[in-house]
This record gives sequence, C-alpha cells and structure tokens, in this order.
Amino acid sequence: MRKDTGQIFRIEDYRPTPYAIEKVDLVFQLDPQATMVTARLAMRARAGTNPGTALVLDGDELTLISVKLDGAELEPSRYQVNSQRLELSNLLTGERFDLEIVTRIDPSANSTLMGLYRSRDVYCTQCEAEGFRRITYFLDRPDVLTVYTVRIEADQTSAPVLLSNGNLVETGELGSGRHFAVWHDPHPKPSYLFALVAGSLGLLRDSFVTVSGRSVDLGIYVEHGKEARAAYAMDALKRSMRWDEEVFGLEYDLDIFNIVAVSDFNMGAMENKGLNIFNDKYILADPDTATDADYANIEAIVAHEYFHNWTGNRITCRDWFQLCLKEGLTVFRDHEFSADERSRAVKRIAEVRALRAHQFPEDQGPLAHPVRPRRYREINNFYTATVYEKGSEVVRMIRTVLGQDDFDKGMRLYLDRHDGDAATIEDFIKAFEDASGKDLGQFALWYHQAGTPHLTVNAVHDAAARELRLEIEQSVPPTPSEARKRLMHIPLIVGLVGAQGTDMEASAIEGAEVVDGVIHIKKRKHVVRFKGISERPRISLNRGFSAPVTISMERDDDDLTFLARHDRDPFARWEALNALLTDAVKDAARQIRAQRQPAFEADLLSLVGELAMREDLEPAFRALALTLPSEADIAREMGSNIDPDAIHAARDMLSCQIGLANLEAFTGLYEAHSDGGAPFSPDAASAGRRALRNALLEHLSAATGDPSLAARQFAAATNMTDLAAALMQLAHRFPQAVEKLEALGTFEARFAGDPLVMDKWFAIQASTPGAGGVERVRDLMRHPGFALTNPNRVRSLVGTFATANQTGFHRADGAGYDFFAATVVEIDARNPQLAARLATAFRSWKALEPDRQKAARAALSGIARNANLSTDLRDIVERTLA
Ligand code: BES
Ligand code: ZN
Repeated sequence: MRKDTGQIFRIEDYRPTPYAIEKVDLVFQLDPQATMVTARLAMRARAGTNPGTALVLDGDELTLISVKLDGAELEPSRYQVNSQRLELSNLLTGERFDLEIVTRIDPSANSTLMGLYRSRDVYCTQCEAEGFRRITYFLDRPDVLTVYTVRIEADQTSAPVLLSNGNLVETGELGSGRHFAVWHDPHPKPSYLFALVAGSLGLLRDSFVTVSGRSVDLGIYVEHGKEARAAYAMDALKRSMRWDEEVFGLEYDLDIFNIVAVSDFNMGAMENKGLNIFNDKYILADPDTATDADYANIEAIVAHEYFHNWTGNRITCRDWFQLCLKEGLTVFRDHEFSADERSRAVKRIAEVRALRAHQFPEDQGPLAHPVRPRRYREINNFYTATVYEKGSEVVRMIRTVLGQDDFDKGMRLYLDRHDGDAATIEDFIKAFEDASGKDLGQFALWYHQAGTPHLTVNAVHDAAARELRLEIEQSVPPTPSEARKRLMHIPLIVGLVGAQGTDMEASAIEGAEVVDGVIHIKKRKHVVRFKGISERPRISLNRGFSAPVTISMERDDDDLTFLARHDRDPFARWEALNALLTDAVKDAARQIRAQRQPAFEADLLSLVGELAMREDLEPAFRALALTLPSEADIAREMGSNIDPDAIHAARDMLSCQIGLANLEAFTGLYEAHSDGGAPFSPDAASAGRRALRNALLEHLSAATGDPSLAARQFAAATNMTDLAAALMQLAHRFPQAVEKLEALGTFEARFAGDPLVMDKWFAIQASTPGAGGVERVRDLMRHPGFALTNPNRVRSLVGTFATANQTGFHRADGAGYDFFAATVVEIDARNPQLAARLATAFRSWKALEPDRQKAARAALSGIARNANLSTDLRDIVERTLA
C-alpha cells in the first residue's frame, strides 16, 4: 500500500508540467499475477523548459522492468526509481523524445480496486483520481492530455472480450490460445479517463442515431445470463443521449459507447471515455430484484456518467482542486434530466432531503470544506457531498441569478471556449460573466467559502402602511480553518400567500435588488419592503430551495399548516409540513428525555391524513408528505446533546398516532392502491403509487402493532419494491414476531444466489433499531453471502449499520463505535478508499450528548493509534478528531 507521507497539496502550488505527452501507445500482456505493461510515450518539452530539466513520473506499487530513451535502454544510473516515482534527471535530449517503460503488475493481488484489478475474474481498471500510476509510470494528473492507442493481449478462453476507450481498430489471434485487440481513442484525454476491460462477459447491444445522423453502437457488458437485466439501463442511456442533444445541444462524439458492469467497485460508476465502468448495482434491474429506488438510481447514474462525456471529458479539470467543475455541473445536469423524465416537484424535494442528510452535516462538522477546496492530503477523500451536491446547487443558483437565457448562453460559451481544455472554476464563472454581462464576484464565494449560510428572517406587517417588511440577516458560521467569513450573494425566492391561498402581488419591492421574483441578498442585513400588501400574508420562504441555506423565522403552526395546504410551490408546501413534523418529533423527544409523556396536536395528525388523501396531488408527493423526517434528520435539527434513543421513540410514537388518527382512511387508501395483479412498470407514476402504499403500510403497522398487514403484503408482492418494503416493516417493527423470522428466511432462501438482492436483506437487518444491532451485524458478517472484500456487501451491512441505525450505532455503552472502528481498520489494510468513506460516519460525533461523545472520541482515537493506517483513513480520522 502507498505509505502516508503526510504531504499536503495546495492549490497555489499548481504549475504546468515541464513536459507534455503528445501520444501514448500502451501494450498490455494480461496475466492474472504478472501483467506486463509497455508504455511508449512521445514526449515534448514545453516552451520555456530548460534543457536538462528532470522528468518526474508518478508511480505506485509498480515493478519497473526497463526504461528506454529514444530506443536505447537506460542504465539504472540514469534514473532514480522508488515506489512513488520514476525520475529522469539530466535529460539532455531534443525538444521531442521517446520513452519506453516496461512495468509488471499483479492484478489478482490488487485489493484496493484502483488501477488494474480483477473482479470475479474480469480484468478491469479504475483510474480516477490517481489510479493510472498503478499501471505504469506517467504524468498522472488531469492537465496532461494525450491520445491513446491501446493493444490488449490475453487468453482467448478466459478473456474473449477485450475493451478499451475509443474505436476498435484491429483484432487477431496470437497462437497458443491468445488473442489481441487494438483500440484507438482520437480524443486527447487525461490518464484518469483511461479504461481497460478483459474477460468473459455477456453483451446487450443496441444503437443510437445522433441528431446529425451518425449511428453509434451501444453495448452493455454484464455477467453471462444477466443480459436482460441491463435493458432498463440501455433505455436510460438512449434517453440520456437524446436529452443532452435536446436540452444542452451536446452530441456524442465516437462511433461506440460501451458500459461494463462489474461486481467489485469502490464507487457507483466511472465516466471513462467511451467505456463507462459501473458498479453492477447501478446497471442490473428487473421487477423481481430491483426496487423503484434502484430503477431511479440506475437512470440517474447512467445519465450522469454519459453527461460527463462533455462536462468532464471534453472539458476536464486543470487539477483535482477543480473537481466540482465536472462533478457539481454533471450532478446538476443529471438532476435536471431526472426532473424532466419524472416529476420535477418530487425530484426537487428528494434532492433537498439528500442535501440536508449528507451535505449539511459535512458542512456543519469537522470535515467541512469549500466546494472548491484549496488543500488536501488525500484527493479520494474530496469526492464529497459538498463537491457534488452543494456543487450542483451552486450551478443551479447561477441559473437562478442569471435566468435561463443567460445561463444557456454562459454554458454555450464555456463549452465553446474550453472544449479540449483542462479548465478551472474561474474559467467557468468567467464564461457566465461574459455571456451575461453580470458580475459574479461576490457570488463566487459559494465556491470558496465552507459552511452553510444562515438567514434570520423577521416579518412585520404594517396594515396602515399596506406594507410587509422582511428583515433578513445573513451569517456564515465559522468552519475549520476559516473563522471569519465574508458576506454571500444569496438568491432567495419568496412568496406572499394571501388568505385565499393564492400569491399576493406587491406593487413595489424595495430594500434589495429584485429580478424576476428573485431577491438578491448581498449585505449583512436587508429590510425588504413589499408595498401594497393590505392583509397579513403567510410567507413562503426559499421556494424551490432557491439557495442551500438554513433559515430561522418565527412562524406559527397555523401559518405552516396553511402553507402545507395551499402554497403553489410544491417544495415549499412539503417544507411547511416537514417543519411541523420535525418540531413535533423534537418536542416529543425532549419530553421523553425528561421522563414525560409526549403528546401530538390532533391538527397535525389530521393534516397529514388530509394531504395523503388529496386526489389533486400526485401519489409520489403524497408519499413524501407521509414520510416522517428520519431519525438522523431530527438529530441534525436538534443540533447538540443528541439522544438517539429518545428520538427513535418519539418518531415511532408520531407514526403510531398518525396511523391511529387516520386508520380507516389509510386502510381504504392502502387497499385502493393495490396493483391488482397488473404487470410491473418502473415508470415514475407507477412508482409513486407504490411509494404511497408503502408509506401507508408503515403508519398502519405502527398504529395497529400488528404484523399481519406487512406479512400479507410480503406474501402477495409481485415486485421487489413491495417485497422489500414489507420485509422492512416486519424486521424493524416486529422483532419478536414469527412473521418476521419467516419472511427473513423466505427472502434469504429465495435470493441466496443473488448478491445484489442479498444486500437488501443485509441492509434491512443492519438498520433494525435497538441495542442488539452490534451483535446482529457481527453475526451477519459470518454469513456465507457476506464478504469483507466486496464494497457493496460492506456498505450494505457495515455502512448501513453506521449511517442508518441511530440506536444501534450510537448505543449508549459505545459498543457500536468500537465494533465499527475495529471493522474499519480491518478493511483499511485491503481497501483504504472504502475504509475512509465508512469512517465519515463519525463526522457528527461532537453533536452527541456527553457520554456518547466520549465513547465516540475513544473509538476514533483508537483508530488513529494504529501505526499502519492508509493516508485515506488517517486523513479522515485526524480531521474528524481535530
Ligand atoms: N467520476 C466519478 C467516479 C469517481 C468517484 C471516481 C470517486 C473516482 C473517485 C463519477 O462520475 C461519479 O461521480 N459517480 C458517482 C455517481 C454519480 C451519479 C454522482 C458515484 O460513483 O457515486
Ligand atoms: Zn461524476
């Protein structure tokens, strides 16, 4: 493993390389334990490089066999090599020279899943961010773009399929059971976009005719026998290609587009040019094995990786500090795609819930960092919710600030100006400034300043003056290494809702710049005056979640109830209800902690019922209205001194009360939404009906305390969504019931041969509330279907335990933390990236009540005391403790 040098990388140290690589020829002689890689690099000194300047190539765990300079083998005295680099000093060559480097690597021993490794006997690669250096010595950084020609030689029987980026130019036999293929990618690219796959795989083929009439061969490679399960991903790919042409005017640029699904993958998927590699979890789907959430994820991730072809590949990043340039923008694009393909309102609410669940805690804890960070120790640890989700929100705000037309012009300018470049966030912002003529100087702080901005809003209605005054004050809380913050430019969309439930129009708005209904908050304090407002309005704040901020404003329950019923903005309507539910659970949790019996307002219980029944709202929205804030949501909103047991009990009581107050109506609605044996369709409307029914199942089960409804659903289910939802209710709510044991057994027997489905079985048990979680998860780690070497298994069992089991992980005696810490250290020895990601589950430890805080700190310190931690894990643990 790479050893931790403690080195910190800083954005201000960026320098272009003294040498460029004009083209590269790679030859892979594949062998499970001893793959030989020959790299021929056509090098050129950049203008201004002094003769003799050293060439320093990156490497990692490589065995160097030979180095040739302009055809002549170099004596070892002419270069210096260690595990991290190959340095050629005194390079007295012409401006151009050729290097040939031969290395040997062992794919079978590569458990990091970075570089070239094997997943179920398939050779595959993962090079982002710094994995290419595990294949050959190279300038392994995103600003070194070059043209690749790749020759793959392998055993014909075990590896009939040989794939790399670009177009296939030659294939042939080599004798003694071996064959080869040559691929050429005409588009210059950085090394992180290189990919190679070789193995025995099934293929689903299709084709796509681009807007200009070019036909593209599409292929999705999967495990033999699973070809049919790739059909939905193929459909999503074709829809993505069409959407990018229609919405962004972007056409695909090669004759082939391939996707390969592999079982061992650290992330979700990777956008390698013309050869995307996916975690098979995000490709394979059919009604019997995939939930509606799986289908939605597949659609979103297929789109995301495809969209990178322009935002990431054609225009890449100058350095890894610019990661949000490709990731934030591409997440924004995949969000828009899903919004267009499904329900925009429901998608937006889901985005905000995810942002608050993942990015807010990051921004509000020890791991906080700007969307465009300025320093890092391990880049793998910066593929974060902040870079991705907040990065996407920032792009969305650019659109809000400029309006759709100028946003489109800015995107066009960015794409035209930087096609083929390795660009920066400054380049990106400049394109929007130039296209719109607007100054985005203050706005750019969204990229540079960490922390979630906070708005304090106070509303005063002056009936005599027919005026509503909104006093809006902004502040940005301090974050690690940034104590003082500058004032931000916050685009805020506000609605004033009148007694009829419709929006009131102000005759004038003063006190802040207002453009097309967007209030531009730029100073510390604004007093915004809405003129011509005769009656007291209800204030609908941050409509559509126009800015990723937190807000405090005194609003009484009647106003929130009114907005939940009437606001024309669906996000704000959901938000009003969510605020009421969150407050109710928070209050109840405090009562429970003080040994008092909590009570819930009857009005709230009936409001939830009313929204659930409203036929004018789409079922998916009604399902969201029925979904209580999660235990983690409540904990985050409480902020400090968190007691997960009290939160769990309070939330459960509310669910029970909602069910009891609406028992008849919910029972009727549940029955009315049975699929009645109709064939399964994964479309959004059908998924919405299932979501509504499964949300009802939860409250009905809580209310009756009777497992029979869930048991009946489990027995009758004709798709995985309904089956898994029923199993979850049984497992989480009825730990002692025979129905639960039977269902878990039935599920296990039925799906034992399907690891992706078994992941659901593991996850449901890992998230089962209560103190027994630690022991249960420890036992399940010995289940024959579990493997500590497979990231999907680890995430579904160990990861789910730490992130979705508040009462188990945060068990008062600290046993959850100790078990988890020990497991993370064990994983780290094999797969540092996976271990480091898991360890972020500790990021909110400082918000816990004092005893749990102490236990969490002890577990974290215990990890840190290990001498042999990877850079990845040490970086996370040390920053979390600091
Ligand atoms: N480029 C990333 C994959 C990646 C992440 C490579 C981290 C190396 C390190 C890819 O485009 C990506 O963002 N994938 C996401 C899914 C996406 C829909 C947000 C992932 O893998 O989680
Ligand atoms: Zn991405």
